[in-house]
Amino acid sequence: MKLIRLLAVLCIIPLACSTGRIATAIVPGELWKDNRGIHINAHGGGILYRNGMYYWYGEHKDELTSNANVGINCYSSRDLVNWKFEGVVLSVVTDNDSSDITKGCIMERPKVVYNEKTQKYVLWFHLELKGQGYKAARVAMAVSDNPTGTFEYVRSYRPNAGVYPLNFTPEQKNDTLTQANTPKSDRQRFRAAVENGLYVRRDLAGGQMSRDMTIFVDDDKRAYHIFASEENQTLHIAELSDDYQSHSGRYVRILAGKHNEAPTILKRNGKYFLITSDCTGWTPNAARMAVADSLFGTWTELGNPCVGENAHTTFLSQGTYIQKVEGKKDLYIFMADRWTPKIPIDARYIWLPIEFENEKPVLRWRTKWTI
Ligand code: GAL
Repeated sequence: MKLIRLLAVLCIIPLACSTGRIATAIVPGELWKDNRGIHINAHGGGILYRNGMYYWYGEHKDELTSNANVGINCYSSRDLVNWKFEGVVLSVVTDNDSSDITKGCIMERPKVVYNEKTQKYVLWFHLELKGQGYKAARVAMAVSDNPTGTFEYVRSYRPNAGVYPLNFTPEQKNDTLTQANTPKSDRQRFRAAVENGLYVRRDLAGGQMSRDMTIFVDDDKRAYHIFASEENQTLHIAELSDDYQSHSGRYVRILAGKHNEAPTILKRNGKYFLITSDCTGWTPNAARMAVADSLFGTWTELGNPCVGENAHTTFLSQGTYIQKVEGKKDLYIFMADRWTPKIPIDARYIWLPIEFENEKPVLRWRTKWTI
């Protein structure tokens, strides 16, 4: 009998070790361990669903710096709870200091989309060139044949050089206000000038600034790049080309002068909802929401979707993506980062199910929840 028990134990132990512990709940704010038992390192991330598998892409962060010393990481999961580390899918360049993505640059908020026509996976992210702080304000792109990479780096740039937004009026095009002739001390006048496109005109030739971002693929398979532009004052929604690898030149400015960052978006019953943040760096602030019947507007502000304790700080976090759960009619996950700038690698993930009340998204804190 004892021998049978011993044999059973000997068989079960290796099985349990090789499969690891299967988690069933999402626990916002706690360490979230991957298949190796290591806290997931995929910050400012986004998810791609493909062939029954979710792929989570995010920024690799270090103990001491948020700068990119490694690159973009990828994890895979069938249940959105248990994640397998798939590796670094886009590495920084370590032997060429003139590369856009040389070690020490800033790579943020990566998002991957799959293009059915080309059968390529396209990775977009916010890039800042090494040693320039947040001055470059570029978007960057890489391509792969597989969701787990390796992605080949293609280029970085400021989008829509030489083209005005579709909703720029003739008056705005002809406006002569510039930073030089509009003193910042006259705050009201400066603000009005920004709302009227002062930065769009300034950056027309070289392309529009592009920082915090997401990518959204609509039901008709058109893809859009949604990003903080104009010194983070105004969001732009820009259509991508058919192969998702460049900008088509069709874009609009939305919520002009409203200072939105961290754009996330969902579509439900024909309505688009944007959930964004204010611009306070790594410090959390109150989320904001807007709704539209069409991506190119008009967008109507709806206020903070969060309710309850810590609603004014988005539960101490900042949004990064909204993922619809496949096979569940109305389950969308709001994904956010609880930044820890002193130990960037320790930042936590705040994933919450979006509730709908009067057809509007609502976010409530949950200590633990299951899909
Ligand atoms: C946040 C932004 C992050 C990162 C940070 C740097 O506002 O959402 O992605 O850029 O600022 O301070």
